[in-house]
Amino acid sequence: MEVKAFYWKGDHLLLLDQRKLPHEEVWLELRDHMQVAEAIRNMAVRGAPAIGCVAAYGFVLGLRAGESPERVYEVLKNTRPTAYNLFWALDRMMSALNSGKDLEQEAKLIEKEDYEANKRMGELGNGLIPKGAKILTHCNTGALATAGWGTALGVLRSAHYSGKDIQVWVDETRPYLQGARLTAWELLKEGIPHKLITDSTAGFLMKKGLVDLVIVGADRITARGDVANKIGTYTLSVLAREHGVPFYVAAPSSTFDLSIRNGEDIPIEERSAGELKNCLGSPIAPENSPALHLAFDVTPAENITAIITEKGVISPVSEEKIKECLS
Ligand code: MRU
Repeated sequence: MEVKAFYWKGDHLLLLDQRKLPHEEVWLELRDHMQVAEAIRNMAVRGAPAIGCVAAYGFVLGLRAGESPERVYEVLKNTRPTAYNLFWALDRMMSALNSGKDLEQEAKLIEKEDYEANKRMGELGNGLIPKGAKILTHCNTGALATAGWGTALGVLRSAHYSGKDIQVWVDETRPYLQGARLTAWELLKEGIPHKLITDSTAGFLMKKGLVDLVIVGADRITARGDVANKIGTYTLSVLAREHGVPFYVAAPSSTFDLSIRNGEDIPIEERSAGELKNCLGSPIAPENSPALHLAFDVTPAENITAIITEKGVISPVSEEKIKECLS
């Protein structure tokens, strides 16, 4: 059965609380934009495209409650700083409002288009996957992170259902464990062969020739093709380059921020030290040790073999190719 992260119910949003997975399936009823903002901030919903879709519905709820559009926009915008889909979706809702469009229909359209983009990326990306490939992925980029199907995980789904006989290495993805808790859960539900590994196992597997390709999602992609994604992605790209392993990124066009050229200019979210020093509610470090918890890193375009979008596959990754593909 296909996994869904959220359902729009006409007057509220039903959201699968991803903090509780894989052990409990708890659904939250979000009835105003403040609750939606809180769910994004506290990671009840996460993954760039899912955040964008949910924020669009939050915008609808906020305006229906009589709040000013500017205020609702600000509240939702100030939740997480890196995922570009959030700002893209809010800007789209704001221009829909300014051109007199039906806001509920616009939010539904954002959701529908994201799902269709994922399916298309699945088809296009599948063309890059050899039969029997051993594929490493990081974080969760599946149905839980999108309107459905998934970006990088969507490509893996498409490859699996086309009979490619793939095997997925799932990075656990410290500290929030999106790989262990969410990706493994999605893959298990659909019977897609996979094995969980610690993040630090990746290099050794590549050295042993056990990784044919790496595929990840993106939170923001700049005009020259630098990619912000879950912390640890950059390290994987360097390892892949060292071992001659192709490194793919799958992301919809809504993840591209063409106003930024260099990856260094992408705002990187810093989350609390507490999230790093505790694991599933238990402390794992001395209470008084300081910690640095960066949620994302930036992979330079040079380390990326191709970017798979719903509009085409960009390879080699360059400013010209990106412009050409997205226009
Ligand atoms: O902190 P998260 O869980 O929101 O981070 C998610 C990721 O880094 C994903 O790889 C990215 O959003 C792409 S999801 C299709």
